[in-house]
Amino acid sequence: MGRTLMRCAACGAEVDASQGLIFTCPRASLDDGVDHLLTPVPLEGSDWPESDEQNPFLRYRTLLFPYRLARELGLSDQSYCDLVSELDDAIAQVDGAGFRETPILQVDELGPDVWVKDETRHVGGSHKARHLMGVMIASLAVERASGRHQAPPRLAIASCGNAALAAAVIARAAGRPIDVFIPEDARDSVVRRLTDLEASLHICRRSPGVQGDPCMAAFREAVAAGSVPFSVQGPENGLVVEGGSTLAWEVVDQLRRKGLAPSELFVQVGGGALASGVCGGLQVAHRRGRIEELPVLHTVQTLGAYPLKRAFERLRDLSVQGSLQSAMSYGRTRRSGFMWPWETPPTSVAHGILDDETYDWAIPVEMMIATGGEALAVSEEALREAHQRGRSATGLDVCATGTAGLAGLLSKPERSEAGGARVLLFTGAER
Ligand SMILES: Cc1ncc(COP(=O)(O)O)c(C=O)c1O
Ligand SMILES: [Zn+2]
Repeated sequence: MGRTLMRCAACGAEVDASQGLIFTCPRASLDDGVDHLLTPVPLEGSDWPESDEQNPFLRYRTLLFPYRLARELGLSDQSYCDLVSELDDAIAQVDGAGFRETPILQVDELGPDVWVKDETRHVGGSHKARHLMGVMIASLAVERASGRHQAPPRLAIASCGNAALAAAVIARAAGRPIDVFIPEDARDSVVRRLTDLEASLHICRRSPGVQGDPCMAAFREAVAAGSVPFSVQGPENGLVVEGGSTLAWEVVDQLRRKGLAPSELFVQVGGGALASGVCGGLQVAHRRGRIEELPVLHTVQTLGAYPLKRAFERLRDLSVQGSLQSAMSYGRTRRSGFMWPWETPPTSVAHGILDDETYDWAIPVEMMIATGGEALAVSEEALREAHQRGRSATGLDVCATGTAGLAGLLSKPERSEAGGARVLLFTGAER
């Protein structure tokens, strides 16, 4: 029992997904200032999946919510594996390769004990597909278990970057129609690829006097009309966060094979789902004894917009006065006191971290405070230097968002922990 429980991290509402898959907290529409985030309740246990399987959604399946859901709904272990393998084969047809453990490299030129996890050649050219794969597996498992053969619901996403590309690849592989809501100034290369992938593109123009992002407004309308929220933001779909944990589990296992453990981690943050998924994965690995200590987490944003740093500083001050736990529950139930949109439209070479709000802010804030990490904000010059150094030291065709974590590391030459690996995530390919 409880294997398919989802719980809101802010208000505590619980739902059992085996009774019907939902993506947002049932109280999310209340507009009550609470930071509703419906995520799977992890199963306690001490086993760690050990196998040579290369696909993380197969290797780590016993840690993953979509697997627990599939089993609870009556699918066998083999049926889950078949479902994932079929989807993965279709992804390989659409995008050249499916999900595989991505490489990790030690890069001495970037500093002692610096390790780079290379996501640039992953599905869709970034780590984003990890987040969405879990959602698609869960949806397919529900359909397969019920034997329903109605037309599947449409998918919807507001993005004009890596998340949209990942979403369109997975949608195409699963044969699902997808609506992608993009701004007028979306890049041609992205628009071309989305068109090739047969995504339905909707250009959303700003109307004079109307506040807020018109793409998000159109996305929310589509979801209200029945589309599956397929964007990489936890408050819109709490299931996306967990997929990012697969990245952390791979890092832990890859370092372990070398007799190492992560001691510090620098994660670039836009909407915050990546950092949140990675934190969740590290916590699972820690609770199950796969790592002895949690690494120190540092997040990296641009000086152009650092809403997460703002929230971190307020919460850290609050946690000094009481406990971290009470500070976090205070923050999660009074979101606007900690997280609000950046006041001026920012620009940066690292456009993937320009979100004017960090939607998934609470999990990384809590982990930074707990591990003694910092919310770093770096200059454009530092981002450009990291981009150039990261590319030349690794030979990878990585984008400036992908190397932003390195800008954070270069700004902090003194180590937080002696020994262990200082880990960077090179998250996206140049386009
Ligand atoms: C290459 C790359 N890295 C990192 C990020 C940041 O991820 P998140 O928005 O989940 O914080 C993005 C987001 O667009 C991205 O495209
Ligand atoms: Zn809630």
